[in-house]
Amino acid sequence: MAQVVDARLIVDGTTRELPIERATIGNDGLGISTLLRDTGLVTMDPGFMNTAACESAITYIDGDAGILRYRGYPIEQLAEQSTFLETAYLLIHGELPSEDLLTALENRVERHMHVHDGIKAFLNAFPRDAHPMAVLSGAISALSTFYPDSLGTSEDELELATVLLLAKTATVIAYLQRRAKGEDLIEPRREGNYVDEFMRIGFSPASGELHVDPTLRKALDLLLILHADHEQNCSTSTVRIVGSSQANIYAAISAGIGALSGPLHGGANEAALKMFDQIKESGDTVEQFVAKVKDKAEGARLMGFGHRVYKSYDPRGAQVKKVADKVLQQLGGNNETFEMAKQLEEIALSDEYFIERKLYPNVDFYTGLLYSAMGFPAPMFTPLFALGRMPGWIAHYREMLNDPRTKIGRPRQLYTGQTERAYVPLDQR
Ligand code: CMC
Repeated sequence: MAQVVDARLIVDGTTRELPIERATIGNDGLGISTLLRDTGLVTMDPGFMNTAACESAITYIDGDAGILRYRGYPIEQLAEQSTFLETAYLLIHGELPSEDLLTALENRVERHMHVHDGIKAFLNAFPRDAHPMAVLSGAISALSTFYPDSLGTSEDELELATVLLLAKTATVIAYLQRRAKGEDLIEPRREGNYVDEFMRIGFSPASGELHVDPTLRKALDLLLILHADHEQNCSTSTVRIVGSSQANIYAAISAGIGALSGPLHGGANEAALKMFDQIKESGDTVEQFVAKVKDKAEGARLMGFGHRVYKSYDPRGAQVKKVADKVLQQLGGNNETFEMAKQLEEIALSDEYFIERKLYPNVDFYTGLLYSAMGFPAPMFTPLFALGRMPGWIAHYREMLNDPRTKIGRPRQLYTGQTERAYVPLDQR
């Protein structure tokens, strides 16, 4: 892409130079913050297609080349060699931890996995069939009331909130799964591997303990790594904008969970699996379904396809497909759906509609299939995305607080409503 070396804007015959802010890699930015003051104009950019709202040193994406890096490390290397908590440390603190620092984080998180009885009562107050994303958002907000010494902006308070959020979100999600099935809650052991413990308290039968299959543990750890951050996506931008009002980290992340629940964002993993089932039930062939998507008449989208930033194969999607292949081979089950999904992908990738629009499978296309094969019910898929995204939200909240350029998020608008008119009393309307 051509490097912009000079930018000028001519408004009403007056030329103004616009400053260019340099990125270390990727798109540089055109500074427009004084435009309104200087020209009376605002910029219009619905959906923030072209607007950088902040600087960030956390995650880099090159959407054309299919590159994703956390703090400079390629996602493929982290997926292969790291663990979720190590990746969390990296995202939040900027560097890979030493062995001591990693062990300290793991121990601290595992020690805090129990949840207060008040939180259990809170979870029990919702209907058993409540969508877990709604309850999760409420539970994260409610956590703030139990830990008042983790609400401030000092390093110690933020560090405590970080540990509590990583630890208790896992337990809340595992409990939501048990509750939906009418099962009693199991106490975390306060030791052991984080992912093991999450699966143990989510899946152990009423009597006896689940022995976590190492392949499944590794697969889930990998899925959490792949979801851990994705720069300024909808939920992360929500976290940053809520946090910019100096609302506490729990309030900001609770709002982010609301954003993630939508089917165009994290909810797409559940929606994709539903779509596969609907295709099977409808008796349509995969080709017929693709024709409906292209026709747009029924408003159908190919869920798990397309991305605002990736205009090539989502590197996370490629990793998920690889691991799905391995896990489904080992576990059996869902193979028929997996074959259908692969067929759907193949047809879409060779179809002009998808080629022209650069629509490729994203991270959500195969994750639902994989979660389902691992035994997670469909409503738990998006909470699993939330568990994975937690380090990213925390890292962005902390980066936002520490950035001297942060101002309360407050976009402008282009007003298109009525100009002034006089109030009409009720009896005259
Ligand atoms: N199926 C069919 N057509 C699509 C799809 C799709 N999945 N995605 C985009 N298009 C079409 C869209 O209709 C439009 O066509 P046209 O130019 O004829 O009007 C064109 O492609 C551009 O789409 P857009 O909606 O303007 O693109 P966007 O950047 O605003 O939306 C998106 C990105 C992810 C919301 C969208 O691709 C989508 O709805 N995908 C399905 C939902 C999904 O899988 N979401 C998960 C995203 S990855 C995980 C995450 O970060 O949350």
